[in-house]
Amino acid sequence: MSVSITIAIDGHSSTGKSTLAKRLASSLSYLYVDTGAMYRCATLCALNAQLLTDLNHLDSDAIAEAVRNCEIGFVRGENGSNRATLNGVDVEDEIRTMGVSSKVSYVSAIPAVRANLVEQQQKMGQAGGVVMDGRDIGTVVFPNAELKIFMTARSEVRAQRRYEELLAKGEEVSFAEVAENLQERDVIDSNREVGPLVAADDARLLDNSDITLDEQFKIALSWAHIEIEKR
Ligand code: DC
Repeated sequence: MSVSITIAIDGHSSTGKSTLAKRLASSLSYLYVDTGAMYRCATLCALNAQLLTDLNHLDSDAIAEAVRNCEIGFVRGENGSNRATLNGVDVEDEIRTMGVSSKVSYVSAIPAVRANLVEQQQKMGQAGGVVMDGRDIGTVVFPNAELKIFMTARSEVRAQRRYEELLAKGEEVSFAEVAENLQERDVIDSNREVGPLVAADDARLLDNSDITLDEQFKIALSWAHIEIEKR
């Protein structure tokens, strides 16, 4: 592929953004960046520093400083997938637990944390040929991305997917707990002052409540080809 575009995928929690983004990146031989994993690593970093013990009284400055001193990265896993690292340690499994999921929206609402991670994301994608997924990629990180996709699905469909994912990993959670966490994250993510979850005006909407993974991949790939051919 000679033309490298930037593909921004945003949307609600558990809409399958990373599954689609990974598949698109692999099919186009692009770099894939999971920015949710970066916010999850930042949260783990703050947790390790005992800065998330009282969610009603967070010391935003201390958390931002702790995150600045943490090194967040990715390494290649066995099956070619990306695995998140914190200070060089593989934390991919740890950042997906409910312990991190229940706190990540608080950390990602801190403006100084966002400024830091957005800067790192812009550097990672500056050469183009990237698929990046998150909440603010098409609006803040790469507002000039050639292709912006905004993913959504009915909330009960998303909760069921997430619940099955956690059960498969052996986590003991109830469906109600998962549904509540998703709803809480949606509210916090959509209402924060900096980088709220909102579709960019020029984003293409993809509701995958009733379509298969293959169907959504075909739709997204056809959109990517439209944009690549324009260049
Ligand atoms: O995509 P995810 O569910 O792994 O993201 C985890 C949390 O990180 C999510 O609740 C919101 C936050 N996030 C964000 O604020 N901005 C991004 N670009 C990506 C994720």
